[in-house]
This record gives sequence, structure tokens and C-alpha cells, in this order.
Amino acid sequence: MAVDYGPLQGLIGTFSGDKGTDIAPDPDGTEENPYYETIVFSGAGDVTNAEEQTLAVVHYVLHVNRKTDNAAIHHQTGYWLWDKVKDEVVHSIAIPRAVCVLATGSATVSSGIVVLNVSTDESGVVQTNFMHKKAKTTSFKMEMKIEGDTLHYAETTMVDIYGKNFEHTDTNTLSRV
Ligand code: HEM
Repeated sequence: MAVDYGPLQGLIGTFSGDKGTDIAPDPDGTEENPYYETIVFSGAGDVTNAEEQTLAVVHYVLHVNRKTDNAAIHHQTGYWLWDKVKDEVVHSIAIPRAVCVLATGSATVSSGIVVLNVSTDESGVVQTNFMHKKAKTTSFKMEMKIEGDTLHYAETTMVDIYGKNFEHTDTNTLSRV
């Protein structure tokens, strides 16, 4: 039987966009990086946990480059998961700073527009001792909107760094390729 990806169905495909804005921590305060990005989402079937929970699985990988010098400033992979019975959405994130995040939430679908909202506090973050001590992620929240061939997201990662809890934000609008 075909997998029911529910609210994740519209993600499957490749999106790119160059309207990204990153606000990142800097020893002197704040660094702002306009960026372009490509995200590839692939349907990966479904899984059954403990013979009772079924999750639809969408895997993604994304690349972010700074507009001013084309430097690769962010790479990320993970899964969007959907539990049809609980109508719960889970977003897992792995970034190559030795930090992983598991954020949970829900989807709303209205007039064909899908909005995914996920968040976690520090309990959903796994990070190395170094990052815990020097650049600790303390929470993460994200809203992603899929409207046909347009994908928009806004996310906030709170990072305890350089003596303060910094609001590291990223937002972009992408189009299906
Ligand atoms: C489009 C998304 C993102 C972009 C473009 C981005 C970009 C950046 C940049 C440019 C820095 C500053 C690096 C430096 O000069 O030291 C940074 C720092 C950091 N980011 Fe992100 N980031 C993104 C998402 C995330 C996410 C989702 C997380 C956590 C799950 C995260 C965690 C961190 C941490 C912990 C730091 C502090 C490391 C440091 O500055 O020394 N970022 N990010």
C-alpha cells in the first residue's frame, strides 16, 4: 500500500531559495548572513515502533551558502516524521557542530496550506561536552509553511555562548525546483 505522508507529502522534492537571513552569534555581538539554500526532501517509507506506532518518514538534507562570499556556512540533515494516529509531527536535526535536536509538534492544514510547528527545550538537544560548555543549544523552535511549490520557514535556536543566551535565527523562502 502507498505510504500516507499526510501533511509531509508536499515536502517531497527539491527546493531552493536565496532569500535567507541568518542572525548568528559573534564574539563582538551579532553576525548577519544573507544566504542561499537547497533542501532535498525524500520520502523514505514508514517505520513501525514496538509493533504499535507507525511513523511516515521524510528524510532531508540541506546546504546553506553565504551570499557575499559563497562560503558554506551551514549543513543539516535529519527527518520529518508524522504519526497519523496521534497527529504528531517530529523533526530530527543533525548539524556538523556535534549537535543534534529532536523537536516535536503538530501540523495544521487549511485551504491547502500546511503549517508545521515544532519545538523543544534542552531536553531535546544532544551535544558534545565542548558544545555544552562553550556554545550550548538550550532550545529550538521552528515553523515551516508549505503552500504549493513555495516553502517558508522561520526557526530560532537559543545558544548560550560568549556569556549570554543568544537568539540565533534563520528564515528563508524557497521554491520547488
Ligand atoms: C539555516 C540555518 C543555519 C545557519 C545558516 C547557521 C549559521 C551559523 C553561523 C554562520 C554561525 C556562526 C559561526 C561562527 O562564525 O562562529 C552559527 C553558529 C551556531 N549555530 Fe547555526 N546556523 C543555522 C542553524 C542552526 C541550527 C538549527 C542549530 C542547532 C540545532 C545551530 C547551532 C549553532 C550553534 C550552537 C552555533 C554556535 C557556534 C559558534 O558560533 O561558535 N545553527 N550558525
